Amino acid sequence: MKIYVENDYASMSRRAADIIAAEIKNNPNCVLGFATGSTPTGTYARLGELCKSGEISFKNVTTVNLDEYKGLSPDHPQSYRCFMNKNLFDLTDILPENTHLPNGLAEDSDAECKRYDKLIKDLGNTDLQLLGIGHNGHIGFNEPNDRFIPGTNVIDLTESTIQANSRFFESAQGVPTQAFTMGIGCIMSAKSILMIAEGKGKAQALYDALCGPVAPSCPASILQLHPNVTVIGDKEAFSLIIEKEPKLCI
Ligand code: PGA
Repeated sequence: MKIYVENDYASMSRRAADIIAAEIKNNPNCVLGFATGSTPTGTYARLGELCKSGEISFKNVTTVNLDEYKGLSPDHPQSYRCFMNKNLFDLTDILPENTHLPNGLAEDSDAECKRYDKLIKDLGNTDLQLLGIGHNGHIGFNEPNDRFIPGTNVIDLTESTIQANSRFFESAQGVPTQAFTMGIGCIMSAKSILMIAEGKGKAQALYDALCGPVAPSCPASILQLHPNVTVIGDKEAFSLIIEKEPKLCI
């Protein structure tokens, strides 16, 4: 596992974008797994700049996103489709048909989960999967559980996730209570994984993920078993690790 402790959000975002840009330069046809939330917006803005300056092109890139709220249409302003269009896709030359998210409006959830798993498999799995981490250690929307769920599934969001995400909605009541999420097996099938974390609020989750036991009570801890993981965070996010396991950060 490679670990980068950055001074601030801007340098974290720059390093993460540079790693993704290098992936695109090395393999212009790559399949990238993307995440939503506050953490990756700086990374996406930088990728948009690199695309605008002609340093990289998304023309042959395919993307699959981790998750989508169940019940939100693609044009709902809080849907993850809308988020991705606004924060990344519209800033690049990516072909819309090469961008994939679960369909939040799918009537048959089981069929939608199977469709999404097949899509990822048919693409040959992701070359690089970008991840944030939830305050409770979730990745995608794989919430703490008593087992790791391998495939795409519909998850009941925990109260803490609903509260955390209510900042994007008018109130917590407006946050959907369920979401489609790529499963842990899909995430782990990525050839490389890039996790980013910002702020003190993520310090415990990051510590549990990297230093705790591998257990579904902290879904991100599974990353300890992946052969090619890079974690980039600011000093606050790494504060507990710096305090308790400083050797990990060298
Ligand atoms: P955040 O979410 O980037 O908005 O903190 C991360 C996550 O929940 O995975």
